[in-house]
Amino acid sequence: MKLVLDVNGQRHEVDASPMARLLDVLREQVRLTGTKEGCGEGECGACSVLIDGRPVNSCLVAAGQAQGCQIRTVEDLAQGDALTDIQHALVELGGTQCGICTPGIAVTATAVLEEEPAPSRERIRALLAGNLCRCTGYQRIVDAIERVVEERRARS
Ligand code: FES
Ligand code: FES
Repeated sequence: MKLVLDVNGQRHEVDASPMARLLDVLREQVRLTGTKEGCGEGECGACSVLIDGRPVNSCLVAAGQAQGCQIRTVEDLAQGDALTDIQHALVELGGTQCGICTPGIAVTATAVLEEEPAPSRERIRALLAGNLCRCTGYQRIVDAIERVVEERRARS
């Protein structure tokens, strides 16, 4: 069946079941492999994408449900080689190691800081609680997001 998805501002017509996981359709049909699969069960956040600006676990979303919505993936964050401040901070402060969780964290952090631009350190932890990381112990991820918050505050 033909599905029409709006991904990163572009219209994609794909041949997929409406019940197919959005995660699979994005990776295998739209060929955007930045979105990762971790648990496949809605627990880890590795597969996070934005649907109409809100982070969702794409392993739990049926592709058919995403028709008519604006889907944004990690590929839409950086402009070419220019990382966003969040991506840059994650890299620079060691908030990424194996990298499996990183796209989901970058996507989620992008959305949550748009909603809530000045969260405390504890609040950052809470906002990212749905994104699990096996490698970093979270400290450096929180450091990175905290630095972005401070830099943005200083610029405003
Ligand atoms: Fe979707 Fe883990 S792969 S939440
Ligand atoms: Fe490996 Fe987060 S960097 S899971």
